[in-house]
Amino acid sequence: MSIKIIGTGSTLPEKCVTNNDLTKLVETSDEWIRERTGIGSRHVSTGETVTDLAVSACEKALADAGKSADQVDLLLVATCSPECGIPSVACQVQSRLVASNAVAFDLNAACAGFLFALNTAWAYIEAGVYRSALIVGAEVLSKLVDWTDRGTCILFGDGAGAVYVEKCEQGGILGFVQHSDGSRGEVLKCDSRALKNPYADVPAQAPYVQMDGREVFAFAVRQVPAGIQEVLEQTGMAPEDIDMFVLHQANYRIIEGIAKRLKQDIAKFPVNLNKVGNMSSAAIPVLLDELNRAGRLQKGMKLVLSGFGAGLTWGACVLTW
Ligand code: UT7
Repeated sequence: MSIKIIGTGSTLPEKCVTNNDLTKLVETSDEWIRERTGIGSRHVSTGETVTDLAVSACEKALADAGKSADQVDLLLVATCSPECGIPSVACQVQSRLVASNAVAFDLNAACAGFLFALNTAWAYIEAGVYRSALIVGAEVLSKLVDWTDRGTCILFGDGAGAVYVEKCEQGGILGFVQHSDGSRGEVLKCDSRALKNPYADVPAQAPYVQMDGREVFAFAVRQVPAGIQEVLEQTGMAPEDIDMFVLHQANYRIIEGIAKRLKQDIAKFPVNLNKVGNMSSAAIPVLLDELNRAGRLQKGMKLVLSGFGAGLTWGACVLTW
């Protein structure tokens, strides 16, 4: 028994910001950004919230699956950029979808969040607790980015992707691995509100993304192929058996590095980061939805999904489409 993705959906904010637009904000160039990252543009919220984007992506995933909101048992939102601490984005989405039978909660594993949420749904469904789930990756990172820091503001984008999954007897997710290394959290962080109460007043740190890009780059190129090899060994498969590697969209050079380490043709690694940048937990489900709607995912295909990011966190799963 396993779980199978039955429907996908995604939504991006309307406003598209090109690399040339960013040259008006920071000292950079379209050429530098394309060469170092592969990114050409990204979508940025002008008012859409994480919940707005998530609700829209969920509606499309449900329509694609031919399901109604009241058929959802579990609603998981992976996000690191919610508008408020409470209630969770998942509970707000539940309310707007009228998914009255669902239990809803958020999960934060940064850019590995969608994958961790998918694995969580797998575990619940495998254990017989629930039969179906809506799994969402949704971010408005533009409010966490320091728009004067050229090292980070060129990378990120806003958006949401969702998948509807159900229990299945054959195929579906064949195996997964997930890892965390909290000892290396400093390389990619974003502070929240400072402690301020009648008994303490801790000076506030700037609540913006701070990143050691080279460290994150080296971590991704080393750990992601190792995680993929690990999950392939678990399922008795080799990289050659995989039709498509749907990776977190952080940097095209990272994807190239991973393809090289796995000795696989880069054509097996679809990309959309040129148009949407790095959308953290939304990256994998948005790309999956694009591939699905373009008819590029055929029944029976073997896919690897792999995400990595702040925490540090990383993981991979193998599935039959
Ligand atoms: O989901 C995970 C999230 N994070 C990531 O995936 C980030 C992974 N890391 C990366 O993608 C890359 O490290 C970056 C794209 C962030 C940076 O690329 P890099 O090749 O590692 O550049 P660098 O940081 O070593 O900087 C090289 C030069 C520096 O100038 P100097 O010191 O050599 O004079 C930077 O100041 O490029 C400069 N630079 C820029 N120049 C133009 C940094 N950002 C920019 C920019 N435009 N936007």
